Amino acid sequence: MVFNRREILKYSAKIGASGAAFLAAPFSLKVAFASSNYIELVAAPIKQSLVGEDGPLSDLWLYNGQTPGPEIRVKKGERVLVRLINQLEEPTTIHWHGIRIDNAMDGVPGLTQEAVMPGESFDYNFIAPDAGTFYYHSHNKTWSQVARGLYGTLIVEEENEIFDQKHDLTLVIDDWRIGKDGKLDLASLGAMMDWSHEGRLGNLLTVNSQNEPSFKLNAGEAYRLRLINVANSRILEIDPNSFNAKILAYDGQSIGEPQILQYSPMLIGPAQRVDLLVTPKGGADFSIEELSSGQAYSFAKFEIIGDKESTPSLVQLPLSNIPEPDIKNAKTFPLEMSGGAMRRVGDIYYQGKKLKGDDFRNTGQVWAFNGVANLPEKPFFSVKLGETVIIETNNDTNFIHAMHVHGFHFRVIERSGVEIDESNVWRDTFLIGAEQTVKIAFVADNNGKWLYHCHMLEHAAAGMITWFEVV
Ligand code: C2O
Ligand code: CU
Repeated sequence: MVFNRREILKYSAKIGASGAAFLAAPFSLKVAFASSNYIELVAAPIKQSLVGEDGPLSDLWLYNGQTPGPEIRVKKGERVLVRLINQLEEPTTIHWHGIRIDNAMDGVPGLTQEAVMPGESFDYNFIAPDAGTFYYHSHNKTWSQVARGLYGTLIVEEENEIFDQKHDLTLVIDDWRIGKDGKLDLASLGAMMDWSHEGRLGNLLTVNSQNEPSFKLNAGEAYRLRLINVANSRILEIDPNSFNAKILAYDGQSIGEPQILQYSPMLIGPAQRVDLLVTPKGGADFSIEELSSGQAYSFAKFEIIGDKESTPSLVQLPLSNIPEPDIKNAKTFPLEMSGGAMRRVGDIYYQGKKLKGDDFRNTGQVWAFNGVANLPEKPFFSVKLGETVIIETNNDTNFIHAMHVHGFHFRVIERSGVEIDESNVWRDTFLIGAEQTVKIAFVADNNGKWLYHCHMLEHAAAGMITWFEVV
């Protein structure tokens, strides 16, 4: 699937106008510290156009009727209080992606809580320990609920303000699959073709649900751009060097001193985030382009106002207090990824039975971790609180994957036998190429049952998901 602006434009005459409109800050809800009041997030169906104001109405599922859902902002260390109210026709939950969270609040149905039934509600109540760029999304039938719009941002501000609101922009990037009628293509949700290949890719790339929005930046001032890839399966490719941006943070965690990207382009896998620092010069208007289709596709424009010179100041985000893995005394757990199209399918067990023939189509299970599709009864591993874990993931498939650990940030320590020195980078999601082996390490400093899965949502649904336990 490639992005084709002309296709999208024809759905609405007005989109030219709305596309050129300058975006105000996204909807934002401030959570007051020590407030006993819950923010209400109502998950409900709603009809909205994705292709300009007068475009055909899509059947979306949104939080509070907004796409993206309301931006929740708290300060580091504050409590987040959210009441999820389910007005959908099916169960749902919310997962707080990247938050080192109390396990009972992690939002995984069947593992950390019961799914919230239609008409019911659930109170999420947790501390946000790290400042950074996070997001929340449905974690039930995620491949369908997220594709319909059930996600929003959770921004945890630093204790001392570094960028004020005017210099802090959140860009939620999604790729929607739009049908010939200009509406969200629902008929193709769950298509085996997507599940067994690259996942569901869209043909309409939006930023904060807008088609190529424009932002005004003042010359000579430092801005933080928070990019969040909420697409089901699309890996975005951008080149921050093309607009002189530096990296401030990955996956919500500061890297300390801002750095220039060394190898361009940068891949932003599903669920990954990157915070960029830009200090534009007068006259240097720029666009951010998506490069994965081989053709540069501008998805956000920036107009630079004035010609003020910048006085270089040291902008740096404080580091989170995450324990350093003790590699020498670590326990290593190998995980073999298998299955998918264009491979001879080895043995895959699902719910205790070996799949054969039509079973794959009937169950929708086509991928496996250590030979097992979907959540096994027994955990992938069980460790004691405080132990260092190394997960050695071997991707024996023909596809790239975006592997996510719930509840922990980790260091990537090795790729295909080569040691990696990324001692300033914490991740909650990493990309692994076909045939690659990647080792990640983290301290299991939080009790509970935690998921490890591919964040290409169709892959997770089709088997690429497991869990581990910290006791
Ligand atoms: Cu953002 Cu289990 O995922
Ligand atoms: Cu995958």
